[in-house]
Parts: sequence; C-alpha cells; structure tokens
Amino acid sequence: MRKFITSDDIRKILKNTKSNERPIIYINKNDVITAEAKDLAKTLGVIISYEEIKRKPFICANFKMNGNLGFIEKYIVELKSTLAQIYPNAYSEIDIVIAPQAPLIPITYSLIKSKEKIYICAQNCSIKESGALTGEISPKLLNECGAEYVIIGHSERRQNFNETDSMIAQKLKSAIDFNLTPILCIGETYSERQNKKTNDVILKMLSVIYTIPIEYAKKIIIAYEPVWAIGTNNNATNEEISEVCNLIRKDIFEKLGVDFSNNIRILYGGSVNAINALEISQIKGIDGVLVGLSSLNAIEFAKIISTFKPK
Ligand code: PGA
Repeated sequence: MRKFITSDDIRKILKNTKSNERPIIYINKNDVITAEAKDLAKTLGVIISYEEIKRKPFICANFKMNGNLGFIEKYIVELKSTLAQIYPNAYSEIDIVIAPQAPLIPITYSLIKSKEKIYICAQNCSIKESGALTGEISPKLLNECGAEYVIIGHSERRQNFNETDSMIAQKLKSAIDFNLTPILCIGETYSERQNKKTNDVILKMLSVIYTIPIEYAKKIIIAYEPVWAIGTNNNATNEEISEVCNLIRKDIFEKLGVDFSNNIRILYGGSVNAINALEISQIKGIDGVLVGLSSLNAIEFAKIISTFKPK
C-alpha cells in the first residue's frame, strides 16, 4: 500500500533513534514523501533510504592452530552432509567460510571444489608479496592456493605477535591487492571495558580503514570480537554486541557515507555456539559470526550456519 511520508514521520524517526544509531527512514518505491518532509529530513540529518539493505550473512569458522589432514577430510564430508539435511539452500543464502591453518589450504581447496561453494579464509598474511621474510606467508600465494578471505588483526595476533594498527593497515591493503577479502577484527579487553574505554578502543582500531583508499576499504568485513569473550564461554550480551555494532556503523556512516555504511558487513565473534547463535543472528545490524572453538565440530558449525537462514 502506498504511504504518505510527512514531517511528523521524520520527527518520529529522530525521536526514536538512539544517540549511537543513524537516523534512517526506509520507504518503499511507491511511497510519496512530501516536499516539506524531504526538507526537514535534510535539516535534521535523517537519511531517506528506498529499501532496507539486505546484506548476505557471512559465517566463518576460525580453526586457529588446530586440525590436520585427517581432520579436514572428515570435516568437509560432515559439514556438507549435515547442511544437506538441515539447510540445503545454505550455499546460496549464506557465505560459508572456513579458515584452516595455512598448510591445509590447498587440500581444503581440492576437497571443497563443487558447485556448493564453501570459501577458504587464511588466518593471517604478510604485508609483502615476497622477499626475505622467513616464516611469513605471502597473500599472493594464499590466493593462488585457494584462499579468498583473510583474517587480519585477530586479537591473538595483536597480543602474541605485537601486531600494531599500522601493520594492520598495510596488511589490509596488501591482502586486497592480491584478491583476498580481509576480515578486520577489532575488540576491547576486559579491563578496557571495565574502565569504560570500549568506544575509544573500537573507534581507534576501526580508524585504520580510513587510512587506506576508499576503494580498498569497501572490500573489508568487520568482526567485532571482544577479547574477553574469545574462548571463554562467556559471549557478550545482545545489548553489548548491538551497542558496539551501532557505534561501528555510525562512525562509518559519518566518515564514509550512507551507501558505505549500509553495505559493509559486521560480524560478531567470541564464544559463539549452536545455542547462542540464534539470539545473535537476530541482533539488528549483525551480519554473521566468526566462530572459533565451536566451529571445530562440523555438525555444530552447520547448526550455527542454519540459524542465519533468512527469516
Ligand atoms: P571462540 O573464538 O569462538 O573460540 O571464542 C572466536 C575467534 O577467536 O575468532
């Protein structure tokens, strides 16, 4: 049914928008918006968007330093057979991604080759394409071996391998140069949350995306991963996740505009399992999850994927 959008509707949107959210009104193509309402929206900074953007859910298994040849062979068979039973449309409706250890990437690639697309993600990559950097992994080679995504700036790398924001910015750029889509992880520690520093920490970590060209930044997926929730069986509450997700999208909106902030995918990671995934999948603005421990069980990972079915 055609609706008339008036100044009152614009005022209502502004009144109901929390301070950490973007004031946005979604209207249908057939709706009519009065000239007065349009002007008021402009004055008050309310965004008029013609459709609620549907972002494809993105579910990524981060195996960390776990698994071997036998594990991955069994895993792929189990994941596929479970999805065939509980969610046969998963491959077209969800981006399903697994991040094995780097030496397993070529074998994983040959195991998943089929029309049922499962994407491969690396867990880290070098800033450089090649050179005298013993122990580093080239983003170009990762892509050649079958990886299409790469996790950048995971808290385990920031903490154990001293990765800094400036290294992370370089890695983002280099990954994209070699056709890897980066998943940028950001998140506060327990003491930063206790000391009410969460917003500052998140915005600082997020700011690396503003230091690279916008055409690069557009390719990034953000994962909000509070450090205190990783591997602890203590996931963040829906409110905590929603607050940080809104903060991230609002900051991106202010810096890079509405199209950018509508399109970027934001994931949550930290003790996601088959039980809490359903609630997490219903948080507005969360487009998927990055799963560690629970993803090592293919059946559990398939169940997590199925909670993100379009509702
Ligand atoms: P977790 O790990 O699910 O085991 O908490 C998440 C991650 O580190 O990405």
